[in-house]
Amino acid sequence: MSVMAIVGAQWGDEGKGKIVDELASHADYVVRYQGGGNAGHRVVYGGEEFAFHLVPSGMLHPGVKCVIGNGVVVDPKALIAELDQLRALDIDISRLYISDRAHVVMPYHMVLDRVEEESRGAEKIGVTLRGIGPAYVDKVSRVGIRMADLLDPDTFRAKLASTLTQKNRMITEIYGEQPLSLEVIHTEYVGYAQRLRAHVCDTQTMLQQAASEGQALLLEGAQGALLDVDFGAYPYVTSSSTVAGNASTGAGLSPKSVEHAMGVYKAYSTRVGAGPMPTELHDADGERLRELGHEFGTTTGRPRRCGWFDAVAGRFVSRLNGLDSVAVMKLDVLDTFATIKVCTGYCVGGKVIHSMPANLNEVNMCEPVYEEWPGWQTSTAAATDWNELPENARTYLSRIEELVETPLALVSVGPGRGQTIHVRDLPLK
Ligand code: GDP
Ligand code: IMO
Ligand code: MG
Repeated sequence: MSVMAIVGAQWGDEGKGKIVDELASHADYVVRYQGGGNAGHRVVYGGEEFAFHLVPSGMLHPGVKCVIGNGVVVDPKALIAELDQLRALDIDISRLYISDRAHVVMPYHMVLDRVEEESRGAEKIGVTLRGIGPAYVDKVSRVGIRMADLLDPDTFRAKLASTLTQKNRMITEIYGEQPLSLEVIHTEYVGYAQRLRAHVCDTQTMLQQAASEGQALLLEGAQGALLDVDFGAYPYVTSSSTVAGNASTGAGLSPKSVEHAMGVYKAYSTRVGAGPMPTELHDADGERLRELGHEFGTTTGRPRRCGWFDAVAGRFVSRLNGLDSVAVMKLDVLDTFATIKVCTGYCVGGKVIHSMPANLNEVNMCEPVYEEWPGWQTSTAAATDWNELPENARTYLSRIEELVETPLALVSVGPGRGQTIHVRDLPLK
């Protein structure tokens, strides 16, 4: 393998961090290509869970170089805090590289994220309040500040002064909040620039070179394809393109260089924040999934909404990403269920459909059509091989594989290292 994209195939929190950590021992580089501190990727390390937000989840592997690509929006304060946590674990952080083209999340993005969300009233998106939407707005509006600007004192001050004037007008005149101080932000961010300077470079040239030499690159997605700004249930989406098609752009690589896309699915569904989720359960089964799966957000601590596996959404995503393989996570969470349901169609106004409508009202009307499978009611947590899984578990996994039309490569039966079953060979070195 030279370049493999790992993408979230549902609404985020599928277990991308665990899979990246699992595969990183075969990689030279791990690259985050979109999103920002809204991500929370947990990896079990030394018996403890480490939550990555901006740093790629390959960082716990000593030989691996980790890159925050141009497509990411970086909150420098949060990044420095994360690096300090890693340093406290004796992790060598000199292996972290930050694209000089990555945009910087500024204090006014945080304020705007909050006041804009508050102003939505009943239509709240349930954003993570990490400034992500407003930072991407500025990128597209061409008033963003990039890492390269942050490192250049004159450019930084000039850009900050002109943007802050506009932002303070919005903050005070539209939202009635206190203005932010140019001097305070400037001093704080110049300090961050000093801390991060050694990590900032032209990462796309570095990655292009590595890919051309046949080195192994893992491109780590954040969020999930059903939160994609184009393909999620708009406007209940995040502000970046989360799909494999954006992995090359967000890393600064040619689209032709991405040879393999792996989709990471949970064996059931979860969603945090508002927006349609056709298979959401409001009953004891939903509660059980939340408890057994510890389904509480990594970044915000919010309880995740839980439901059965949605194969309509699953196939929509596999086609959209051109998935070459899938990983099915958290199989162990289903271990005690007597029966397990899978959604194979949506009933809308008396008609069964097998695709994701674009119209939000229609999505909201989708009633899941289920097929039901017998559970296995045995612990899978110690299984290390496909043949060690109970027959009903294998049947269930094979059905998911069939419904998402993509070969199953990995099955995860617990959060720890060593709890991943390799079902098929991957193009790894
Ligand atoms: P990500 O955002 O896609 O990286 O996923 P998160 O880290 O936000 O959420 C996944 C959670 O499930 C983490 O706490 C993982 O440690 C945990 N996890 C991952 N794989 C498994 C698994 O197979 N079984 C169980 N029980 N937990 C898992
Ligand atoms: P990882 O990478 C799950 C959700 C938020 C909200 C919507 C928009 O850990 O899978 P934003 O702050 O991005 O503007 O919020 O997207 N969201 C996530 N949900 N996992 C994530 O990341 C998420 N990142 C954002 O809850 O509904
Ligand atoms: Mg997460």
